[in-house]
Amino acid sequence: MSLQKLVIDNFRNLEHVRLEPALHLNLVTGANASGKTSLLEAIHYLAMARSFRTNKPSSIIRYGATSLQVVATVHRETTDTTTHIGIERQRSGDLTLRVGGQDARSRAEIIEWLPIQIIAAGVPALLEGGPNERRRFNDWGVFHVEHRFMETWRHYRKALQQRNRALREGLSEQLITAWDDELLRYGKQLIQMKSEYIQSLLPFAEPYLATEAHDFGPIEIEFRPGHPRGQELEEALTQSLNWDREHGYTHYGPHRSDLVIKSDSKPAVEILSRGQQKHLNSALKLAQVHHLRVTTGKHCIVLLDDITAELDQAHTASLLQDLLQLQTQLFVTSLDESIMDHVPRDVDRRLFHVEHGRFEAVI
Ligand SMILES: Nc1ncnc2c1ncn2[C@@H]1O[C@H](COP(=O)(O)OP(=O)(O)OP(=O)(O)O)[C@@H](O)[C@H]1O
Ligand SMILES: [Mg+2]
Repeated sequence: MSLQKLVIDNFRNLEHVRLEPALHLNLVTGANASGKTSLLEAIHYLAMARSFRTNKPSSIIRYGATSLQVVATVHRETTDTTTHIGIERQRSGDLTLRVGGQDARSRAEIIEWLPIQIIAAGVPALLEGGPNERRRFNDWGVFHVEHRFMETWRHYRKALQQRNRALREGLSEQLITAWDDELLRYGKQLIQMKSEYIQSLLPFAEPYLATEAHDFGPIEIEFRPGHPRGQELEEALTQSLNWDREHGYTHYGPHRSDLVIKSDSKPAVEILSRGQQKHLNSALKLAQVHHLRVTTGKHCIVLLDDITAELDQAHTASLLQDLLQLQTQLFVTSLDESIMDHVPRDVDRRLFHVEHGRFEAVI
């Protein structure tokens, strides 16, 4: 997927921005507080219907405006088709998602159109963040490669919500466990999909995790299903019923799945330097982009915010080259243009300069 045209209205300090991005590299330069991250955040908001900086949607609407809007013309290379995708958010809270001139049925419809990855200082890396970040990483991949995922997740979430409600309200054991069959059926399917995805991702991660490039020991990634090892989900669910009743929610299940990442057989988070953790993070995201490309033919949009503050020169250069080789559409922010030095001459590129929320195409 790639954005051919992008129109942003009233998103943070971007009052009205129209861009025609290049197919591959888009570099955005500008002083502090000019609006660089806001551009990436607007693209991410369009693709995921959530911000990567805040959980409070009202704070991304430009001060004094009543709504924000982001609209793009998107090209899908697998079918060689283009469509218009749009998101509008009112200060009152109303959200409208549009695909091809019609209201989208769900967020998933837009997310499916625009596979997007972000590497940014403000976004916790896989190792630093809690299990949420790693579940998001896992689910992103399963969502894009396994078409049954969303439906299965909806069934599971519904059973989980109902069971939790019964627990909170202190209902009888019978009314609580009435949800167990559904929970188990869909929960086991989710566990299998998530675990298989990680298994199929590992060979793609290997080249990007090559020891000589990063100076860390062999990396292992283990999938944890969200219930104790050596126990089936049904056993765990039955055994924790008293705990669940006491706490008012369901303790075990794939909603609590996680990934354990090790280097040299030890928890990576405890032994890798901050820089190495960032290399590991970008290597795993590269692996996802590559895996998606090979399994579905889809190209990703990748946002790199303030990347030179995140990675040293050599790693920035190799990350850019790897991403360009995978034919992603890149949006990169930086205080200056120096990263252009790392980009091969023949790459389709555009340079934008932003001042006080106003963009100018320089090349
Ligand atoms: N809701 C809003 N309405 C208007 N302006 C806002 C809003 N939220 C944030 N801003 C302002 O938008 C400006 C741009 O912020 P942004 O984070 O995009 O800057 P940046 O170019 O990425 O800067 P830096 O180089 O420091 O990362 C800032 O001055 C910020 O205070
Ligand atoms: Mg910024």
